[in-house]
Amino acid sequence: MTEEQVYNSIANEYRESKWLLFRHFIERYSLMELIGDLRGRTVVDLACGEGVYARQFSRCGASAVTGVDISEGMIALAQAEERREPLGCRYVQSDAAAFTPEEPVDLVTAVYLFNYARTREELGGLFRACYRALRPGGRLVGFNDNARRPPRPGESLAKYGLERTCPHPPREGDAVLWRITNHDGTTFQFDNYYLEPATYAAAAREAGFEDFRWVDAMLEPSERDDSYWDDFMAQEPLAGLTASKR
Ligand SMILES: C[S@@+](CC[C@H](N)C(=O)[O-])C[C@H]1O[C@@H](n2cnc3c(N)ncnc32)[C@H](O)[C@@H]1O
Repeated sequence: MTEEQVYNSIANEYRESKWLLFRHFIERYSLMELIGDLRGRTVVDLACGEGVYARQFSRCGASAVTGVDISEGMIALAQAEERREPLGCRYVQSDAAAFTPEEPVDLVTAVYLFNYARTREELGGLFRACYRALRPGGRLVGFNDNARRPPRPGESLAKYGLERTCPHPPREGDAVLWRITNHDGTTFQFDNYYLEPATYAAAAREAGFEDFRWVDAMLEPSERDDSYWDDFMAQEPLAGLTASKR
């Protein structure tokens, strides 16, 4: 199945998974910390899914937000939510690699986009799209399956509702299977793809970004004394990334 078909078939389950605790206390917290002040910023959110972060950016004061996703099902959910609660977000169904905004923007976000690239060439196409969408001085902020820390045999994140498995050690292009269990017990799965951290750095540099770097995912401060999170933080399944256009 293509990514479009996969996400058309799991759109509702994926949206529900945003209620899992790690989504809130690690994913959302890390992403928003990395982005910083959004007031007055123009944003393109590549791989926006059902728009959870596009809406968040709008609520945090972004002046214009365009969400882009390859899946018609995800875009339909995003548009339905925009009709239910109008925030002024615009949504476009497109392959991120082929997307160019009418005007370059201040910020491009890519939350779980790059980990769908199966080859260095595909990854290059995604970084080039990010670069093209930015104004000079603009920033790219991504969040991803952590290529610096592939899963190891015997490890488990099941108590957090996430299982993440791949061959050990993974090779370029290997699938990293994500199986998610929602609070209501529903389980669904999809593949990400492993590319080496050095491949990310090279693809970003070739696209024009000179300061690409990975950023460790962080736990929201209110949770830091809770040992419940120890396994998640030790296994580091998620990571941020950032780069800017000169
Ligand atoms: C794991 S979901 C993340 C959605 C959203 N960013 C979030 O955090 O909720 C990954 C999304 O990437 C989209 N996607 C995968 N490959 C894509 C591509 N080449 N262009 C645009 N969207 C893509 C999928 O359709 C899916 O909605």
